[in-house]
Amino acid sequence: MQTIEQISNLRGEINLWRQQGLKIAFVPTMGNLHKGHIALVEKAKLAADKVVASIFVNPMQFGANEDIGNYPRTMAADQEKLLTAGCDLLFTPTPAIIYPKGLDQQSYVEVPNVSQHYCGESRPGHFRGVTTVVCKLFNLVQPDIACFGLKDYQQVQVIQTMVEDLSMPIEIIAVETVREASGLALSSRNNYLNKEEKNIAPALSQNLKWLAQAIRGNDDFVGLAQKAASNINMAGMKTDYIHICHARTLQPANKDDKKLVILAAAHCGKARLIDNLQVTLA
Ligand code: PAF
Repeated sequence: MQTIEQISNLRGEINLWRQQGLKIAFVPTMGNLHKGHIALVEKAKLAADKVVASIFVNPMQFGANEDIGNYPRTMAADQEKLLTAGCDLLFTPTPAIIYPKGLDQQSYVEVPNVSQHYCGESRPGHFRGVTTVVCKLFNLVQPDIACFGLKDYQQVQVIQTMVEDLSMPIEIIAVETVREASGLALSSRNNYLNKEEKNIAPALSQNLKWLAQAIRGNDDFVGLAQKAASNINMAGMKTDYIHICHARTLQPANKDDKKLVILAAAHCGKARLIDNLQVTLA
């Protein structure tokens, strides 16, 4: 596996693959890789001839109150994991390479509607940062396929919408969330949990499951979501939001919707955890 920092070298390698007619899959990440990321690489390998991953801790998607400096950086261990998973090329640009004019002078991509609520509301500017960097990385790598984890369900919908709206010739593959035995979704942010918080955190996925059951036969979606939020708070977390939504538009679900997703975020100690569960009603 080659690790490449410079755009010209990346383009050179990608051009060689293109001339050979090879299909390219891309897995963008911010590093600190866990089994959830490796599942993306494995999926990408099955879908294409060559797999490109990127590690870039994107300053544009962090809010002023979010500590990008403390975001875990584990490059050597990440390279080892990607190599073992069969990744062919790792792109590791610096912020100066991605944003040479600085963040203030950078053109951006913003997706309306699906990016507005939930994490978009709690983290203003976050999705603009995500779509801008993913668009830029797509332009650099020019993949046929890109893989994203469903743990970030809203992010997947935002990126899918960007790809459709801007006619990007890229297939987005959404990959199932990888969980611990407790049900806790794997996330780089789990590193912030101490032992006690690690025992509390599964309450988030447990209450998603409870809510998914409760809405079968009871259409008081708002009332039931409030009950789930208070269960999560009683377990020792602080619910940021929990909503039952239409699975694609992410608008609040109405009684006739069949394909739903429950989106939730909660603070557990220093960590802000997100999770979701898709539900199909009969
Ligand atoms: O999901 C992530 O790790 C990031 O939001 C992404 C897609 C790599 C963009 O920086």
